[in-house]
Amino acid sequence: MNKAIEVCILAAGKGTRMKSSKPKVLHPIAGRPMLRHLVSTVQSLGINNVHVVVGSGADEVKKSFQNDDIDFVLQLEQKGTGHAVMQALPHLDESKRVLILLGDAPLLKAETIEKMLKCECDLGVLTVIQANPFNYGRIIRQHDQIIEIVEEKDAGDEQRQISEVNTGVMIADVKKLSRWLDRITPENSQGELLLTDIVKMANSDGDVVKGIVAADPIEVQGVNDFEQLSQLERYYQTTIAKQLMQGGVHLMDPNRIDVRGDLKVGADSTIDINCIFEGNVSLGSNVRVGANCKIIDSTIADNVEIKPNSIIEGASLEAGCSVGPFVRLRPGAQLGQDVAIGNFVEVKKTTLGKGSKASHLSYLGDAIIGAGVNIGAGTITCNYDGVNKHITEIQDDVFVGSNTALVAPVVVGQGSTIAAGSTITKQIDADSLAIGRGRQKNLSNWKGPRSK
Ligand code: UD1
Ligand code: CA
Repeated sequence: MNKAIEVCILAAGKGTRMKSSKPKVLHPIAGRPMLRHLVSTVQSLGINNVHVVVGSGADEVKKSFQNDDIDFVLQLEQKGTGHAVMQALPHLDESKRVLILLGDAPLLKAETIEKMLKCECDLGVLTVIQANPFNYGRIIRQHDQIIEIVEEKDAGDEQRQISEVNTGVMIADVKKLSRWLDRITPENSQGELLLTDIVKMANSDGDVVKGIVAADPIEVQGVNDFEQLSQLERYYQTTIAKQLMQGGVHLMDPNRIDVRGDLKVGADSTIDINCIFEGNVSLGSNVRVGANCKIIDSTIADNVEIKPNSIIEGASLEAGCSVGPFVRLRPGAQLGQDVAIGNFVEVKKTTLGKGSKASHLSYLGDAIIGAGVNIGAGTITCNYDGVNKHITEIQDDVFVGSNTALVAPVVVGQGSTIAAGSTITKQIDADSLAIGRGRQKNLSNWKGPRSK
């Protein structure tokens, strides 16, 4: 655990350009709020003293992080980044250093934070070289020492040519930070208390102010609108796709996969285009995922084939299963080894034993299905009576004829057969044939109406 460091994340701003009622830092990248990315990165370094300055939409932000050990600091009026840090000061331990991060620059890497932590300085500023530095605070250096940060609006023509800019990320000695902040004033074009002004104060105190240059502008890129959000989303997805490929996954097109959560994949697996993975998904080895599948919070074992256009949520599939195309597995679908589920079958809260098959057009809900069962096309478990859900139990080696309605609660005994088109309302004993349909009657010499 890294106890000598505190983290202060600035997240009180309104995010006007998002034109959204949702607080900016809650907008997601890869399915997780921007703020979540920062908090996780910081925690991955063993830093647990996290203070977040909130203002606009404070309650909503707090609510989405209510299970986290985060100290929220309220900045009632947004009077600038310096003012924001001032609100957090009373919460910081004077004997420590504080790492200041911007809530809307979520993809900062752990390695970069580590570099900041190593800075031998009183104030360390993370900078970056921007081909187009417009709108950023420019870094004024004298050799290794940063002597000033000038905001766009206060910069002269010559200063505006400088391409090294402030990312907003800083590391500072808390005691000194408080001395510097005491002296900043809103006398600037924005009329705000600018955090960047502490650089001047530090210099006048003879303190050491160093710059750490970030390797890649995208890592420190802020999000102000949905276009920038989409750029970071793509960057993040590309990073994940590369990691998957390096781990031995065959992606048919790394630009057409979206991972919104945690995806683990075994060796020799292939993922075709346009698949979305959400939450915690694990795929075993030699798994083939067809195009246009969405897989959410599911565990898929080795040698499984998922054919195109299938949606799988909260399911577990044992080795050798084959599902799809056009299959919907809902939470609680548990497929045993070598189970085959074919097109237009919906499975919910249902277990199927080894080698069982439902190849076409069925609804299986709240059912316990044994091994070696064949579910004919159009079979429905009628699990709902309008108030309660009931269970259908189908034991091993049952053959369910096509278009059967199983009115739950009902038990179908081992080895029995149900004739096609049956409505089953009563228990079927083992090794029996059940026929639950009107008898066929044929009328001979029948002449029905015919058009001439
Ligand atoms: C800031 C920096 C600028 C830098 C740029 C990088 C200052 C004065 N300027 O400018 O040098 O190049 O970031 O993107 O720091 N916030 C609060 N309370 C406030 C104001 C802002 O919490 O009163 C938060 C915002 O929610 C945001 C962050 O601080 O997360 C940055 O604020 P923003 O207004 O976007 O600063 P910039 O003008 O972009
Ligand atoms: Ca900004």
